[in-house]
Amino acid sequence: MAILVTGGIGYIGSHTVVELMESGYDVIILDNLCNSEIIIKDRIEEITGKTVKFYEADLLDEERLEDIFRENDISAVIDFAALKAVGESVEEPLKYYCNNIGGLLALLKIMKKYNVKKLIFSSSATVYGVAEKMPVTEEDKLSVTNPYGRTKLMAEEILNDICKSDEKWSVVVLRYFNPVGAHESGLIGEDCEGIPSNIMPYIMKVAAGELEEVTVFGDDYNTMDGTGVRDYIHVVDLAKGHIKALEVVEKETGINTYNLGTGRGYSVLQLIKQFSEVVGKKVSYKILGRRAGDVAICYADPSKANKELNWKASLNIEDMCRDTWKWKSMSMGKEF
Ligand SMILES: NC(=O)c1ccc[n+]([C@@H]2O[C@H](COP(=O)([O-])OP(=O)(O)OC[C@H]3O[C@@H](n4cnc5c(N)ncnc54)[C@H](O)[C@@H]3O)[C@@H](O)[C@H]2O)c1
Repeated sequence: MAILVTGGIGYIGSHTVVELMESGYDVIILDNLCNSEIIIKDRIEEITGKTVKFYEADLLDEERLEDIFRENDISAVIDFAALKAVGESVEEPLKYYCNNIGGLLALLKIMKKYNVKKLIFSSSATVYGVAEKMPVTEEDKLSVTNPYGRTKLMAEEILNDICKSDEKWSVVVLRYFNPVGAHESGLIGEDCEGIPSNIMPYIMKVAAGELEEVTVFGDDYNTMDGTGVRDYIHVVDLAKGHIKALEVVEKETGINTYNLGTGRGYSVLQLIKQFSEVVGKKVSYKILGRRAGDVAICYADPSKANKELNWKASLNIEDMCRDTWKWKSMSMGKEF
């Protein structure tokens, strides 16, 4: 029996595929490569020493999806395939609804047809919107501030309805906080063209000399140094959370939702300082005004995942910066 991983060539997907393969699972990857490169498949195979089955396919292509379910013995699906740029989602909401919601609906339809009713879904802390208190728990009120966030909230609602309608479904919704870092091999990680919308790739690019300085939005929040505070989580810890979630999906039915975060917040300036220490040189930054829609502080209460998934983040902020820098150095062809 194999696990189908949609979006498995992407940032979080590729790290999860490595953990799955190293835990002995057979993995099938589906990805249309709209935000990733096929070389990552070779890197996954280099890290694990095993080959992985890959389909270059779009989640919205139901015929292709059916072929994949017909050709393989799939026991569960981990669904990472989505577009994730908040700014772009505001400019092109339709693109986000079509891809993120359309893709999920196509997947659910074919899963139902082939009686595969175990799913782990990538959600986000963005569904907490502007939370009233910290840390956020899974029971807190949900709201969203942009179309990307709305696709995640709508997806969660769809999954709730599916589980209510048929008790054979088993769904785990994982709400990620701020995934950063890279695999310790330095072979896979997160990068992008141009100016990143996430802070860690931005810091990484400035440290590498590709960009001049990090733009920090707002230094007048009610936080330790005035900059925004987030719960950064190492992508390998996050990936391991999916292995634990698979165990839940195997033995329980219904829908279960978990925060995957460390439970600790760091400010943007603390992150820049830590990265500068790892790199051994100052990472320049400039302060601009607040960015619309940003919240001052957001960090998880991960106790439900700690207890029920028997999972806990173990890598710290220094590990996150070191592994990010190793990945960047190696992708520039430098020794680390
Ligand atoms: N990275 C984050 O900060 C973060 C935070 C919270 C939630 N998430 C969610 O986690 C998931 C994975 O995020 P990521 O950071 O790895 O993103 P990513 O862009 O690196 O990976 C997503 C992968 O899905 C593929 N894809 C997108 N649409 C597809 C489609 N229609 N058909 C087939 N493949 C498709 C892309 O090519 C890419 O390889 C996403 O659902 C994202 O919304 C990410």
